[in-house]
Amino acid sequence: MKIGAYTLENNLVLAPMAGVTDRPFRMLCRRLGAGLAVSEMVASNSLLWGSEKTRRRADHHGEPGPVSVQILGADPNMMVDAARFNVTNGADIIDINMGCPAKKICKSNAGSWLLQDEPLVARILASVVASIKVPVTLKIRTGWDRNHKNAVTIAKIAEDSGIQALAIHGRTRADAYRGEAEYQTIAEVKQAISIPVLANGDITTPEKAQEVLRETGADGVMIGRAAQGRPWLFDEIAHFLRFGTLKPALSLLEIGEILIAHMQDLYAFYGERTGVPIARKHIGWYSKGQAGASDFRQRIYRAASSAEQLDIMQEFFFCASHQEQAA
Ligand SMILES: Cc1cc2nc3c(=O)[nH]c(=O)nc-3n(C[C@H](O)[C@H](O)[C@H](O)COP(=O)(O)O)c2cc1C
Repeated sequence: MKIGAYTLENNLVLAPMAGVTDRPFRMLCRRLGAGLAVSEMVASNSLLWGSEKTRRRADHHGEPGPVSVQILGADPNMMVDAARFNVTNGADIIDINMGCPAKKICKSNAGSWLLQDEPLVARILASVVASIKVPVTLKIRTGWDRNHKNAVTIAKIAEDSGIQALAIHGRTRADAYRGEAEYQTIAEVKQAISIPVLANGDITTPEKAQEVLRETGADGVMIGRAAQGRPWLFDEIAHFLRFGTLKPALSLLEIGEILIAHMQDLYAFYGERTGVPIARKHIGWYSKGQAGASDFRQRIYRAASSAEQLDIMQEFFFCASHQEQAA
């Protein structure tokens, strides 16, 4: 799959997730089979760029290219500034967020709120595309609500504005995360435009990825929540799409090795004070479905330092007796 001049290693993309797709997680997903990993959104309000959070989000040190950075906002000029700021800081691709349903974001007329103002969508996209040399991509939902599914119109505006790829989450803004994603609208969008389309929403297994690709005709899939605690899902999907067979499930030991290396990266990236609470949610996700996970998570939540978290992880994933119990 191509985005502008970039040819991706495959058509599997890690979805942008605020608070999740930080640099350590993006690098891990790339290493484990994602062809592209989109950053957490960066606000277009330049007053926030000096904050530690935004500085961290703009840190791409060591990240394999192409680096895709998502920006969020409603004002075309501010979006242009945000795009330029992130290109200067290492973005190879700028992704525009018109999919976020959060009240806080929609109150400032950004994210999926924009889907109900098509002329403003056109102005934002054209301004950003004209202001930078790198490819610009767009992420949307199927529409504002089920009576206003305007994804096809937005997709045509995007293509006409010079957007190089479009990701669509198969829910409306009003759906938030309720119900199931639908793929019919994504199929209609794919028929209507010729830039690459990424299907997104509720893709959790290799089989589902294949089904969605077939049903929508999309060029690739974008995966969010299912990769939490399971970054090797990309590798599993890539294998299934290529060979038609499922890879054997990873052992507890293999999962532990991936988790511990991930957490060490995370502590190094955030430092102890910020890293320990962020690590908790990832550790919880990795342990989901394992025997004794509930007890393990309780202990992890009580652990106050990275050293303590590491000890508990070592014991859970590597301890011989536990391995035997789980077998
Ligand atoms: C914790 C979380 C944070 C998210 N943050 C963003 C974001 O910053 N930008 C964005 O475009 N979408 C964001 N999303 C939406 C995802 O990119 C994706 O569209 C959605 O989760 C549906 O895909 P999935 O079913 O594979 O998770 C977020 C989703 C979650 C669960």
